[in-house]
Amino acid sequence: MRLLLYLVPLALLTPCTTSNETALRSALSAIWKAVLLLKKEYEEFNLDGMAGYKILLEQIKGTLERCDTKKAPYIYILIKRLKNVLKDTLNKTSYFTKQRDPEYFEEFQDFFGDQFWTPPTSWNQTTPGLVYRQSLSDTSLCFTEQFSDECISSLLGNLHKNKEPCVVTAPCWKKMKKKGCTGYSLSHQLLSFIVGRMKRCRSDPFVKDFGYYTNVFCSNMMKINLDIEHIGYPLHQQDLFMENIMLCGLCGYSDFYKLEWMNKIISWQDPILGCFSDAGHELDSENAANENHFPKRVKRRERMFLDVCLSHKTAVAVGALGGFLYSFTFM
Ligand SMILES: *[C@@H]1O[C@H](CO)[C@@H](O)[C@H](O)[C@H]1NC(C)=O
Ligand SMILES: *[C@@H]1O[C@H](CO)[C@@H](O)[C@H](O)[C@H]1NC(C)=O
Ligand SMILES: *[C@@H]1O[C@H](CO)[C@@H](O)[C@H](O)[C@H]1NC(C)=O
Repeated sequence: MRLLLYLVPLALLTPCTTSNETALRSALSAIWKAVLLLKKEYEEFNLDGMAGYKILLEQIKGTLERCDTKKAPYIYILIKRLKNVLKDTLNKTSYFTKQRDPEYFEEFQDFFGDQFWTPPTSWNQTTPGLVYRQSLSDTSLCFTEQFSDECISSLLGNLHKNKEPCVVTAPCWKKMKKKGCTGYSLSHQLLSFIVGRMKRCRSDPFVKDFGYYTNVFCSNMMKINLDIEHIGYPLHQQDLFMENIMLCGLCGYSDFYKLEWMNKIISWQDPILGCFSDAGHELDSENAANENHFPKRVKRRERMFLDVCLSHKTAVAVGALGGFLYSFTFM
């Protein structure tokens, strides 16, 4: 048997797996727990939460496409079952969310369609030289959650139901391209570019210059993540840390897929509930992270359920973990 293994050409080895099978298995197990949580508690997830799981679904589909059924049958079957459970659950979830808030759902329904959030097929690295020397002190020049929602909705063609996609107003462009923004304003700049890309908008920023903008934003998001790592991953910054990995990973920046970061994320998961929380930390209502993140819209405000689980934090965690899983098929 051992001899046979040596005879297999190198190129045929590790289909659907990674050189590090332990890492693959721990990613899969964490993802399973989070998917079972959605299956049980889907009524608790808002649209943002479901979007994270939809990103995960696309990453799982991408992983399966890169797997060879015959060469890694066990892992393949496991991932396939995961896909089916998640797909059914998301269907049920989106049905439920649509009933609960039809208008909001319609505005962002592309997020749940096919051909959206497709994972990258080529990879890039961030460029430290693009890190801003200083972040803007006047944050009014940057995105708020509400304004980026409007720009994204307009890109999708659903703002005021005008149905013409890829419309970007001058004020949207201005904030989308603004240099020096940080935190969630920065990640939402990237998100708006990703949405234009996924919607197959034809203007230069989404095609010709897409690599330039993602490189600027992700290089800065990498700096933020390295800083968060450096100060010991404070609870109220974990959500941003994982959102950055999810979004820049989707743009193909493979340097976000550090194994230590994956293990950190998994260590934050509630081992029984499968969700992500800020438990262990005083949950004061003036929590700075929530203030920054969901300043205006109640429906996008972080929801808490099962006493400790946070829906947005869980969603960005699964989006990040799905990216790790997918990235393993390239190793
Ligand atoms: C393999 O993955 C495990 C779990 O993530 C990690 O602890 C270990 O250091 C990894 N080994 C190598 C060689 O990268
Ligand atoms: C999703 O659920 C609806 C009803 O809940 C069903 O009619 C539809 O066939 C399902 N779609 C998929 C893709 O499973
Ligand atoms: C990779 O990054 C370089 C800049 O470092 C950029 O010019 C190029 O467009 C990027 N490639 C892709 C596929 O995004």
